[in-house]
Amino acid sequence: MSEQTISVLGCGWLGFPLARQLVKMGYAVNGSTTSQDKMALLAQAGIRPFCLRADPLLSGKDITPFFESDIVFLNIPFRRNLKDPDYYRRQVEAIVAHIEASPVRFVLFASSTSVYPSTLKHAVEEAAFKPDNARSATLLAVERLLMGNPKFEATVIRFAGLYGGERKIGRILAGRSGVPDPDAPANLIHLDDCVAIAAQIMRQDVRGEMFNACSDGHPTRKELYTQAARHYGFTPPRFADRPSTRLKMIDNAKIKSRLNFTFRHPDPLEF
Ligand SMILES: NC(=O)c1ccc[n+]([C@@H]2O[C@H](COP(=O)([O-])OP(=O)(O)OC[C@H]3O[C@@H](n4cnc5c(N)ncnc54)[C@H](OP(=O)(O)O)[C@@H]3O)[C@@H](O)[C@H]2O)c1
Repeated sequence: MSEQTISVLGCGWLGFPLARQLVKMGYAVNGSTTSQDKMALLAQAGIRPFCLRADPLLSGKDITPFFESDIVFLNIPFRRNLKDPDYYRRQVEAIVAHIEASPVRFVLFASSTSVYPSTLKHAVEEAAFKPDNARSATLLAVERLLMGNPKFEATVIRFAGLYGGERKIGRILAGRSGVPDPDAPANLIHLDDCVAIAAQIMRQDVRGEMFNACSDGHPTRKELYTQAARHYGFTPPRFADRPSTRLKMIDNAKIKSRLNFTFRHPDPLEF
């Protein structure tokens, strides 16, 4: 039994099942949500619930007790509809100010493989690259501000596209036409593997590292979304005729070797 306390900032699609898994593993878990209504659900799962919101400054009751822990899993979403992506950096900076004043010494950050430019064919953690848009530049800046903080150590997980649970592959594209990049490789990861990777990093205490988290299989987008539509009964999308400009393929060798990790869902085509 571990006696460590972990604070999961954002008990959502990923954070909630992760927090439940950490409770099972014997950790004391603080969990946050922005919704008062969800507090009882967290408590029922053995999580100490907090209602907190970064807007961009962090507000809510009991902010200091939330951060009385050893590890923070920082997992608030980088919303696509943000008009100014820099808002996300300000949210994270506001959270970091609280972490700096707390006993927390390890932060695990849920980043995204969207930091890599879409033209980078072989995306490995050590790749030197320039972000190709403002969102990616912001995310890279956030990773750097966390990893460079002198008050705590940080590990960054760059998650590929998330699926699993209620998030079915291809639902968003169902029935669409002119969908770009039919022959580009898909880069996805299942919820079960996201949870297992984050839990293993905490259990193995792997600090100061950067990991890509993406399954082994990279079917083409056309193959994947056509088969997914067939499987789930969605209207299949129709793809553009233009050749793909998206070349990015996420390499997952490091996470497998460093954590001795085996994917439960190595291939997104296995429905
Ligand atoms: N979507 C993708 O394909 C993708 C790919 C790579 C990485 N990621 C990253 O993976 C992580 C997990 O994503 P997810 O889909 O699990 O996220 P999510 O379910 O949308 O939200 C995660 C949690 O953050 C909380 N939250 C939202 N806005 C907040 C705010 N302003 N202040 C404080 N808490 C806030 C939510 O509160 P409630 O409980 O009230 O909802 C929820 O508990 C995120 O960091 C995301 O950026 C996503």
